[in-house]
Formats: sequence, C-alpha cells, structure tokens
Amino acid sequence: MRVLVIGSGGREHALCRALSLDPQVSELHCGPGNPGIAALAVLHPVDPVDPDAVSALALRIQADLVVIGPEAPLVAGVADAVRQTGIACFGPSAEAAAIEGSKSFAKDIMIAAGVPTARSYTCTTAAEAEPALSAFAPPYVVKDDGLAAGKGVLVTTDRAAAAAHAASCERVVIEEFLDGPEVSLFALCDGSTAVALQPAQDFKRAYDGDEGPNTGGMGAYTPLPWAPEGLVKQVMTEIVQPTVNELAARGTPYTGVLYVGLALTSDGPKVIEFNARFGDPETQVVLDRLATPAAGLLHACATGTLDAHPPLTWHDGAAVTVVLAAENYPDSPVKGDAIDGIAEAGAIPGAYVLHAGTAVGEAGELCTAGGRVLNVIGTGKDVPTARAVAYRAVGEIRIRGAHHRGDIAAMKGD
Ligand code: AMP
Ligand code: GLY
Repeated sequence: MRVLVIGSGGREHALCRALSLDPQVSELHCGPGNPGIAALAVLHPVDPVDPDAVSALALRIQADLVVIGPEAPLVAGVADAVRQTGIACFGPSAEAAAIEGSKSFAKDIMIAAGVPTARSYTCTTAAEAEPALSAFAPPYVVKDDGLAAGKGVLVTTDRAAAAAHAASCERVVIEEFLDGPEVSLFALCDGSTAVALQPAQDFKRAYDGDEGPNTGGMGAYTPLPWAPEGLVKQVMTEIVQPTVNELAARGTPYTGVLYVGLALTSDGPKVIEFNARFGDPETQVVLDRLATPAAGLLHACATGTLDAHPPLTWHDGAAVTVVLAAENYPDSPVKGDAIDGIAEAGAIPGAYVLHAGTAVGEAGELCTAGGRVLNVIGTGKDVPTARAVAYRAVGEIRIRGAHHRGDIAAMKGD
C-alpha cells in the first residue's frame, strides 16, 4: 500500500512511524513533513491546506491512502478533494470537520444527539456576553468560536479578564466549568462504525502544577491506570456513537478520528471539546502502544469497512511523552536555536525522539522551527517506569532557552 501523510508535526511523525511498521506499507510519503520524518518517508514540499495541490500529489504518487494529520487542511476541504479523485482518505469532510472548526456547531450536534457537555451560550456582542458570564459561577470558561490551535480558550476566575477575552472574539462560546480529571479518547470512524483507541491524558498548561497559559499540549501518557472501569464503553455508547449517528443523519458522515476531550465529572463523563483529528501529543503515546497494523486500520476507516476489521490489539505497558518547547512558547516561540543530543536520548533503552518544530539550518545543522520542538518518548512496563525513561532521555537533549514540564505523568507521591 502507498500511503501519503499530510502534516509536519510530532503527531505526523508518530503516524509515519506507526505506518512504517506496518508490513502492508510499500511506500511512505509525507507532505510537507519535517527532518525527523525524512528518515521514514519521502518528503514532498506541498502546501497542506491547498486541496488541489494535495490531491494532485496523491494522484502523482499513486497513493492508495491519504492520512490527513492537522485540522487546518480538513477544515479547508482537503479530504473532500482527495476523495473526489477516488483515492481513499482518512479524515473528515470540511462539513464534518466543523465539529472542531466551530465550537457552536459542535454544541449543536451534542444537543441534538443528547451528548453530555457543559451548558453554554454563543454570543456575538459584549451585551450578550455579560448575562452569559453571570449565568455561571466562576471559574469562567470563554472560548473563541473558530480554530485557535488550542489557544482560544480562557479559563479564569477573573471576571474582567473573561469579559475582555469575550470582547476580543467575533463569536464566543461561554460555558459552564466542568470539574474533574481530563481524558482524551480517540474514536476511529468510517461514517457509521466507531472503534475506540486506548485513552490518554494530556497536559495542556505550559508550566508544572497546571500553571500558566493553555498550550497545544506539553506531554501525555497512556494507559490511565486510574480510569474508571467501563469508561471507554460508556463514552462510546453515550457520546461517540450518538455523535456519529447524528452526523450521518445530517448527510455529513464522519470518516477519520473523532477526538473526544472529556472531563470526568461527578455526574459522569462530559465533553469538553471535539476535535476532527488525532490529538498532539496524545497520539505519540497511543500509537506507540497500538499493536494492530496502522495502515490496514486507517484504510478500513477510509473505505467504510471498519465493521469487518478484527478487534484492536495493544502492547502491554505504558508510554509517556514529554514535549520540549522553544523559548517563549506559547506566546512567540524563538526559532533557529541548535538542537543537540537526540542520538544520545534515543540510545537510552525504551526511549526515542519524534520531531515537531524542527528544521535543517543553512549549515546542515538541526535547529528549532516551531513552538513545540521535540517529543521525547519513554516506554516501560508501567507509567512510572516509562516516565523515568522519558525524563532520562529529556536530560540528554540540549536546546538553548527550551522548557518542558517536570510533572508529566506524575502520580500522587512522585
Ligand atoms: P479546548 O480548546 O476546548 O480543549 O479547551 C482547552 C482547555 O481548556 C481544556 O483542555 C480544558 O483544560 C479547559 N476547558 C475548556 N472547556 C472547559 C470547561 N467547560 N470546563 C473546564 N475546563 C475547560
Ligand atoms: N493535545 C490537545 C490537542 O491536540 O488538541
């Protein structure tokens, strides 16, 4: 099978790694990719949000499957364009991807499908935002309606800051605060059938102890030893299948991965957000544990044959990833700093490094080129072991000004 992956981050590096391990894959391509992915796939300098360019590339390399990583190409209709050429595509249509691209559309679907989520108001003026803020007790949750790379959400007890953020958005969703641990669950969907991957936990705030601004995610681990028994089954029955059914009934069947961001509240699991793509960095740990060959599985989603696919199998043990972020991430990350120590980190048993925001400099040296620079992965028999391996490997990497969290996957008492 010839597979083309679209995107250039740590998630796409993890996807390429998993696909490269599937014996069914005869050729692996990635556009535009990054220097880490170059070791696994042929890179193509394509604009990932240009539907014509991506479908022309897929035709030229005679791809059997296109896997779209990030949300921006999905929202831009890249999956629609690829499917129109007759090539199987893993990723929802632009209409279905609005489940991530518009918070108010997502709320609409959830209400129609009876899916538990935070009560909310969608507002377009400050005059509407004021009573909406008053309707809920602090902390206030204020979300920009459009795509904002995980940074359009403000959760604060400061009423004036909440009102100011609302005023800065064209359209804003103001909602009830959901209290409880967060879980990321990815459901693979083929339009009607949905299959869950193993749940993971992400660390969204920039600094230790969940302090600082929201980021795209500073680390993740799987499995979740503390997750309640039956959680995945409950989420599939109460949340995922009703959502998939609702989208199908509206004539916009969902093909790809539905990312369910959950809060486990005292009233049961509730949806914090849906995304139309794999989570980053949760994918890096979830795919590490997936034993089922990835290409056959994603192809089954893209071709509506997931119901005939054998049950998924998983490697025992755990995986932890720690994100190394550039100086000043998430505000205005500094680019162009040298990256050293990847080989040393990868030499530690059970550890490896995936590239996210990296580039090759003029002298051929590896340097930083984005906010989240590297994902350091540690694996082991359980979460504490995998965590120790990940942090040993982090200790080998040298990037001027870089920062990372020290408490990823820390359990009580660590
Ligand atoms: P989102 O972009 O919707 O995932 O929001 C980013 C982060 O803000 C989430 O991962 C949560 O930590 C937090 N958040 C969003 N909505 C809520 C909510 N209703 N209650 C509590 N925390 C929330
Ligand atoms: N890690 C959170 C996200 O991918 O949105």
